[in-house]
Amino acid sequence: MNQTILITGGCRSGKSRHALELAARHTGPKVFLATAQALDEEMEERIARHKQERGPGWTTHEEPLNPGSILKSGACAPGSLVVLDCITLWLSNLILESRPREDILRRVDELLDACQRFDGTVLVITNEVGAGIVPDTALGREFRDLAGEANQRIAARFDEVRHTVSGIPTILKSNRKESSPSGNGMGFKNPFSAEDKAGLYKAIFERRDVRHFRTDPVPAHTLKRILRAAHHAGSVGFSQPWNFLVIDDPAIREKVFQNFTHANGEAADNYSGAKRELYSSLKLEGIREAPVNVLVTCDRKRGGPHVLGRNTVLETDLFSTCCAVQNLWLAARAEGVGVGWVSILSMDQLKADFALPASVEPVAYLCLGYPAADYAKPMLEEEGWAKRIPLEEVVFFNHWGRTVEKRP
Ligand SMILES: Cc1cc2nc3c(=O)[nH]c(=O)nc-3n(C[C@H](O)[C@H](O)[C@H](O)COP(=O)(O)O)c2cc1C
Repeated sequence: MNQTILITGGCRSGKSRHALELAARHTGPKVFLATAQALDEEMEERIARHKQERGPGWTTHEEPLNPGSILKSGACAPGSLVVLDCITLWLSNLILESRPREDILRRVDELLDACQRFDGTVLVITNEVGAGIVPDTALGREFRDLAGEANQRIAARFDEVRHTVSGIPTILKSNRKESSPSGNGMGFKNPFSAEDKAGLYKAIFERRDVRHFRTDPVPAHTLKRILRAAHHAGSVGFSQPWNFLVIDDPAIREKVFQNFTHANGEAADNYSGAKRELYSSLKLEGIREAPVNVLVTCDRKRGGPHVLGRNTVLETDLFSTCCAVQNLWLAARAEGVGVGWVSILSMDQLKADFALPASVEPVAYLCLGYPAADYAKPMLEEEGWAKRIPLEEVVFFNHWGRTVEKRP
């Protein structure tokens, strides 16, 4: 979703600092779009100081003449927060290029188009330069007038306008967009902001199956939040067929590890030669190191003899339980907790070891803890076992196997 915010104020009034405070709440990528040119030592120093203040986690682009081109070029990922600092320097760069006023204002409008088309948040910083005495040079007056006109155009089109005075921001205009696409009052009342969306996608794309764990515990309140997220999964007929058996007893985990060792030995027999060697080298569990394990089960009798929606597809209770596991996995990622799913186990043995009632099936045995390693890609991809299939190969249109969307 696009959000546009203008921060205006006098020189050294706290504009950039306020922009960084707003940016700190953003969980997605952050881009700094600088219009400043390091033409002398003082400017070089100022740029270096600002870079230091921003800290790591920012991508910087320097574009003194055409900052809109960066927004349009795809250099900023959707969901990014872009800070454009600043309009007045950009205008003076254009004036120094001897561009006529009309040409400059046309460029302002083009920049605004780019800001409003960008799929993310754009924070633009400008200076209020008109409050002082009338400049005594023609060039100074030209600059002041142009800056005033540009600021008015930006403020008119942007969603939000903030003014900083002596380090204190005030909101002059707030017109935050609702992201509901229906535009008729229907739809979700509580839309996701660009930051919300970026956070969700970050959890999805950076979730990993983790097998290398630190041994320090996951705090009880963190685990509770994660389990609460799991419990809020969709379920057939709202039957909520799951249970979460939290296991931190080392003796019980040792038993499960023995189960794994046996099952893994049998699984290795599916391979021979180099493939078997590679298989045997893979770490496929973290049962003993992970400080906590969770056995997610499905009670196949939950909800009584007939559950709404579970008439033809009896496995929908198992599918529902998998939805809970995915919620757990994503919430854990957001909490910085790694999850590893261990399925190389005898389920009969697991049932017996945990004395599960006859109607209860173990669905997922999960290891949870803070990761001891970070995998940018799935570990099986890193190890050369498998690759992600391109999306285009798994999306079909209207007919099985048709990967090309035919438009009339
Ligand atoms: C149903 C299921 C069972 C899995 N069982 C195991 C397992 O026994 N051992 C293991 O190391 N990983 C297991 N995984 C993790 C997969 O290997 C992992 O999801 C896959 O390689 C993709 O990596 P990613 O989860 O990091 O994206 C399992 C995953 C799922 C969904």
